Amino acid sequence: MDERILDEHEHDNEASLELSLRPTKLHQYIGQDALKSNLSVFIEAARMREEALDHVILHGPPGLGKTTLANIIAAEMNVNIKTTSGPAVERAGDLAAILSSLEPGDVLFIDEIHRLPRFVEEILYSAMEDFFIDVVIGQGDEARSIRIDLPPFTLVGATTRFGSLSAPLRDRFGVQLRLQYYDLDSLKLIIERTADIFEVAIPENSLNELAKRSRGTPRIANRLLRRVRDFSMVKGEEAITLETTNYALKVLEVDPEGLEPIDHKIMRTIIGTYGGGPVGLETVAVSIGEEVVTLNDVYEPYLIQRGFLERTPRGRKATAKSFEYFKNIDMN
Ligand SMILES: Nc1ncnc2c1ncn2[C@@H]1O[C@H](COP(=O)(O)OP(=O)(O)O)[C@@H](O)[C@H]1O
Ligand SMILES: [Mg+2]
Repeated sequence: MDERILDEHEHDNEASLELSLRPTKLHQYIGQDALKSNLSVFIEAARMREEALDHVILHGPPGLGKTTLANIIAAEMNVNIKTTSGPAVERAGDLAAILSSLEPGDVLFIDEIHRLPRFVEEILYSAMEDFFIDVVIGQGDEARSIRIDLPPFTLVGATTRFGSLSAPLRDRFGVQLRLQYYDLDSLKLIIERTADIFEVAIPENSLNELAKRSRGTPRIANRLLRRVRDFSMVKGEEAITLETTNYALKVLEVDPEGLEPIDHKIMRTIIGTYGGGPVGLETVAVSIGEEVVTLNDVYEPYLIQRGFLERTPRGRKATAKSFEYFKNIDMN
């Protein structure tokens, strides 16, 4: 499959690269200040009481640092972390096995927790609330249920779709943290930190340009830096010049607002074909040949955050800023 440079999701070969870039302690985690200061209070209080931290749900768009935070929570609590994901837990027994391997205070991290099968999710309720699970052993007449006690542990869940969590699950998370898109200054710090790790020099003007085009997302910022570094290296530069940065971003089809061809296609459809809207999400999806959920979860949030697109009760609408911008810019 073709991998988009601005894809917020991890690319196939990126996991180990990202691992090396992940901050391991809270003070190295850049931005998200309100979230960080709340979290550090909860962590400190739990440590003072020598208790497991309350269950935490992290939600927000991909690439903003949820997995990183889950690992930081375990490191700050000085406990082990076990990691799995919603789609990976297929049977009740899978979950029972993980849960019964936990030590007191450990973190169980479930990524994409909204994708847990419902009957597995239901086992979590008693585990989270009262630290036990009932497992059914045997079949038919032989079947009986045994209770397994669990040590107090912390469930950390991550999701891009907070809204699709069931209410009973949602309510069992005492700490609910929403990650925001990063501002320019935080993105610059993140890129600077990564450049440091890569041992590559990046002057302020290039830094600024990269940050502006990173869709408020650290994963994308780091990826763009890697690509721009390639161009700069091949040119034999000592530091990444603005000229090379702009050239690379042009080749990569990332426009000055951090928009890519698919964003242009969406906005041109709404403006050009539907007079700026309002137009239904399904109609837009069909016109551009994308899935409704992808449009809704992946492309729209950034267009909305940047003030190009509005969701109204009657459908999607282009903003005045959008009309102005897409009139002048040439990319398709
Ligand atoms: N606050 C941050 N400070 C520094 N780097 C970050 C921060 N948040 C995310 N990153 C970087 O972005 C990458 C993606 O983060 P990740 O935690 O995998 O996001 P998510 O799980 O939300 O998709 C990581 O490799 C990490 O290096
Ligand atoms: Mg993740």
